[in-house]
Amino acid sequence: PFLPYDLFAAINDLKRSLNAVILAHYYQDPEIQDIADYIGDSLGLSQQAAGTKADVIVFAGVHFMAETAKILNPDKLVLLPDLEAGCSLADSCPPEEFAKFKAAHPDHLVVSYINCSAEIKAMSDIICTSSNAVKIVSQIPRDQPIIFAPDRNLGRYVMEQTGRELVLWQGSCIVHETFSEKKIAQLLIEHPEAEFIAHPECEPSVLRHANYIGSTTALLSYSQKSSSQAFIVATEPGIIHQMRKEAPSKHFIPAPGNNSCACNECPHMRLNTLEKLYLAMKNQTPSLTLPEDIRVAALRPISRMLEMSG
Ligand code: 13P
Ligand code: SF4
Repeated sequence: PFLPYDLFAAINDLKRSLNAVILAHYYQDPEIQDIADYIGDSLGLSQQAAGTKADVIVFAGVHFMAETAKILNPDKLVLLPDLEAGCSLADSCPPEEFAKFKAAHPDHLVVSYINCSAEIKAMSDIICTSSNAVKIVSQIPRDQPIIFAPDRNLGRYVMEQTGRELVLWQGSCIVHETFSEKKIAQLLIEHPEAEFIAHPECEPSVLRHANYIGSTTALLSYSQKSSSQAFIVATEPGIIHQMRKEAPSKHFIPAPGNNSCACNECPHMRLNTLEKLYLAMKNQTPSLTLPEDIRVAALRPISRMLEMSG
């Protein structure tokens, strides 16, 4: 397809003519972050989607994020630059199997991490994100048994923080599971001055070394506030673009993956490109659609989360 020479200018023109807003997750390519109107973590992005006055939402993230924006905005056009941008964690929780799991625990409340499909949301009582999971679970009466899905690592972290037993769905994220304790321990020896900061989707063997654990937004603000000058960062390295922008004098070291290429980028998030973003806006496709009954059922636990996170 024909691509204009200055994609930034062309995207900005389309933004004005469509009355569109571009929402981007921190794991997007730096150039997509730079053209976005708002960059955030899953909670911030869903709050922005819930409050936007734009007619068109261009979601530079993965499918479940754009889907959440569509659940909140059924009458708006929600564009995702690449519809194939899925999520290994969302895929690790198929609806039919989850329905059986839920049926096996009939008196349990279902708290689901936002990284799941609309079908799983529709079977849930409350949605949470990595930045409000502890806060949400803490608001549920202690005698109420809870299923937590789909991320077992975030679930274990919430169990530790709240001192509560949760029945965990055994899902995980391919990106955060790639960090190994051995490589982190080596890095900590090489950089004794650095603080180790990690996302709660990492495994417990990695999290136990962390000086600070938080969502992408929380990691970003911690890295700005802390007096440390160096950080080893165990999450998708897209976030380091913002960390460097906000504190150019500090040193950020991406924790390497444990695979042959030491790669730690999310293959789903990185399917989106500036070119695809431009084409999605120009052609007004691909867009999100979902059955109305699922949308209505999935909206209820998302609205509960937005109320409970204040
Ligand atoms: P947060 O943006 O909520 O930190 O989640 C990280 C993630 O894995 C999103 O896919
Ligand atoms: Fe899913 Fe993990 Fe990629 Fe986030 S980083 S979109 S949880 S695969």
